[in-house]
Amino acid sequence: MAHFDVVEISPEMIALALQRTDNSDRVTFHCQDARRAKWPTAYYDAIVTHFFLDCFTEDDVRRLIRQLTDALTADGIWLIGEFAIPDEGWRRVHAQLWIGTMYRFFRATTGLRAADLPPIGKLMREAGLQRAGYEESRAGLMVSEVWHRGNGRFE
Ligand SMILES: C[S@@+](CC[C@H](N)C(=O)[O-])C[C@H]1O[C@@H](n2cnc3c(N)ncnc32)[C@H](O)[C@@H]1O
Repeated sequence: MAHFDVVEISPEMIALALQRTDNSDRVTFHCQDARRAKWPTAYYDAIVTHFFLDCFTEDDVRRLIRQLTDALTADGIWLIGEFAIPDEGWRRVHAQLWIGTMYRFFRATTGLRAADLPPIGKLMREAGLQRAGYEESRAGLMVSEVWHRGNGRFE
């Protein structure tokens, strides 16, 4: 049976999530800054980061991606839901407008330090990961991705 470690810096978000998970003993919440967490090595079969990596500056997310890659088992998978900016055309302008507006709003209301979307795909590849699945929605503004270590499981 699966067990889940959730790392979340906000006690309010954890309180809400505890209600949603019905205080399940299969979910362990860690109220801490993911950048300062001590991650186990080759431990998790899956990592899920939805609209999370976009909270960090490029330097912070580079370090975090490396640490989380080390925390994945050899066959582990990493699921990502994120914003993205298509390469060209009106879809690029559309995504830039939405994402720029969201960063300005969240910087003003939450004290977010990141000012724009870090190059998540590039940093995942730098960490030695390969993308095995990709879907996009809202004209490429949002993407769902599956990443792995490229050890043959998905080839
Ligand atoms: C945009 S929300 C996404 C929440 C959820 N994954 C979802 O898709 O609805 C980003 C979450 O990351 C948390 N967060 C931001 N910086 C963090 C950090 N340094 N360490 C741990 N959690 C952090 C925020 O408190 C917030 O709950």
